[in-house]
Amino acid sequence: MISAKILGVGSYVPPRIWKNDDLASLLDTSDEWIRQRTGIEQRHWVEGNVTTSDLAASATERACASAKIRVDEIDCIVFATLSPDHEFPGSGCFLQAKLGLSGVPAFDVRQQCSGFLYGLSLADQYVKSGMFRRVLVVGAEVHSKGLNKTPAGRDVTVLFGDGAGAVIVGPCEGSVTEKDSQIYSTHLHADGQFAKELWIAAPGMANGNERMNAAMVEEGLHYPKMNGKAVFMHASKRMPEAILEALEKNGKKVEDVDLFLFHQANLRINEMVGKQLGIPSEKIFNTIQSFANTTAATIPIGMDEAVKAGKLKKGMLVASAAFGSGFTWASTLFRW
Ligand code: COA
Repeated sequence: MISAKILGVGSYVPPRIWKNDDLASLLDTSDEWIRQRTGIEQRHWVEGNVTTSDLAASATERACASAKIRVDEIDCIVFATLSPDHEFPGSGCFLQAKLGLSGVPAFDVRQQCSGFLYGLSLADQYVKSGMFRRVLVVGAEVHSKGLNKTPAGRDVTVLFGDGAGAVIVGPCEGSVTEKDSQIYSTHLHADGQFAKELWIAAPGMANGNERMNAAMVEEGLHYPKMNGKAVFMHASKRMPEAILEALEKNGKKVEDVDLFLFHQANLRINEMVGKQLGIPSEKIFNTIQSFANTTAATIPIGMDEAVKAGKLKKGMLVASAAFGSGFTWASTLFRW
């Protein structure tokens, strides 16, 4: 059986920064409220007609440079996003055209905050099976154009940022020992009975006999709605479970792990996860302070930032977990 590994990582965030204070009067919020509840200090939001696939294309070019491959060596695209360029076709197709990869298969993964790890799992299986050799897994979001930027939307709007992160997954060469770079396992879960705890109702084919109309816009059904407390509670339970599942599968303990890359929804959630598992805080790499929640992009952005900061070095054992809308949750254990 072939083993797969992450060959390189890259990320891109749009240049325009919105500090918490920049949102204060717009949303009737404050820097103090946002920092205390979430840890967020700022977020990047796109300007003009920049799209999700634009951000993904920039992150992809950087991931290819990091993996030391040409863009035209990518033989499969897996694009995780909840903020697609258009309802259909999938954003993977728009990205594929921008990358000039005509003929290469392009998937969209719709698992929200767990989308990157779901995508990584697909890539891992494809490489292990020998079907593809250079799989792009990219998570990207443009949230800023879809948020309610009035006080009525403040509970959700302050949480989200725009950005993209990408990895290239390929086969390990030669005989692989336990200490070599590799993806050991991925673990995927969902519980659809909580689908409406964090969701966007419209447009949608389940809205009576019209997918979208003026009354739905008037009601704000096109904006994300969240039961923040339910999300917090389930995330704090499912992420530790998913990490333990990955460790158990591979005969490892929490203390064997060199770095934890968690989804970035709320600093308090990650602190609770760390506390439950007894992880020293310096082993958890958080980026939410600078980028807020970029949904499918948080984990690859974190990976890239950790490399740049010298916190993620070759040979390190890394555990990663995510939780989000669906509810969906996932984890992986890999050696960098
Ligand atoms: N600024 C100022 N006040 C705000 C606010 C904001 N941005 N958003 C909400 N509030 C107010 C509420 O109106 C409420 O006021 P009230 O007590 O006068 O009614 C008060 O703050 C408390 O609101 P509540 O929703 O109970 O806050 P909370 O303690 O549950 O924290 C979250 C809210 C969103 C920070 C928290 O629930 C959370 O982080 N949940 C997880 C969200 C998440 O991770 N989402 C992404 C999923 S991947």
